[in-house]
Amino acid sequence: MGFLFSFFCFLPYEAWSAVCPLVAKLKRFYEFSLRLENALRSLLEALTCPPYPPTQHLEREQALAKQFAEILHFTLSFDELKMTNPAIQNDFSYYRRTISRNRINNLQLDAESEVNNEMANRMSLFYAEATPMLKTLSNATTKFVSENKTLPIEDTTDCLSTMACVCRVMLETPEYRSRFTNTETLLFCMRVMVGVIILYDHVHPVGAFAKTSKIDMKGCIKVLKDQPSTSTEGLLNALRYTTRHLNDDTTSKQIRALLQ
Ligand SMILES: *[C@@H]1O[C@H](CO)[C@@H](O)[C@H](O)[C@H]1NC(C)=O
Ligand SMILES: *[C@@H]1O[C@H](CO)[C@@H](O)[C@H](O)[C@H]1NC(C)=O
Repeated sequence: MGFLFSFFCFLPYEAWSAVCPLVAKLKRFYEFSLRLENALRSLLEALTCPPYPPTQHLEREQALAKQFAEILHFTLSFDELKMTNPAIQNDFSYYRRTISRNRINNLQLDAESEVNNEMANRMSLFYAEATPMLKTLSNATTKFVSENKTLPIEDTTDCLSTMACVCRVMLETPEYRSRFTNTETLLFCMRVMVGVIILYDHVHPVGAFAKTSKIDMKGCIKVLKDQPSTSTEGLLNALRYTTRHLNDDTTSKQIRALLQ
């Protein structure tokens, strides 16, 4: 009887049963991020390492470049949703509080066998990031570059800047623009452009905003601002808040002003 009493006191059953499926879903996305990390590494390897010279990779391996673009698109969409749903973290904290209280009371609930305390701790670190999926990709890219010391860093950053350039030109040029039949394809192109810019900025020693950068940042920001889509603001915020070098002295006043 005492057991039941404490059970109902400490565990509002409805809240718990609503949170469990959500936590299971969060776990699936967390595990997906680990797979994404490995997939990105193989993709970067294929897109930067021999046999082709760096300038030919994207052309010769268009299917892989498309996969990379799909990953970036997913990543930016996921993080956008995560940022606009602060309830995710509240619900997850509730879950963690509940399982740690249960441990004190020596209770174990079914759901815990799926997301135990250790897994919950790892997931909590992941969801504490403002943009967890993007952070996963930039970590993986940085790691890839530092592990392959024989591979010049430019081979990776050139691949990223070329992709940014392709996207910008597609968005700027009326002939290409007219082929974007719906806003989804337009958004796809914008997200991929912003994704590669952010990765470039994390991996390149001086980043994407410096004068020596191979990305035409002014052009990219302008083309984003010219789009009618409502998602533009989120993407501009991604450039403002998830890049590393925007506030460096090497960033021109013009670029700063464009992002204000
Ligand atoms: C990224 O790497 C840092 C430093 O190694 C680590 O603390 C952080 O948890 C990683 N984040 C993700 C999402 O992988
Ligand atoms: C890059 O690193 C990965 C693992 O860290 C390795 O398998 C691969 O062979 C390396 N590639 C080059 C070109 O060094």
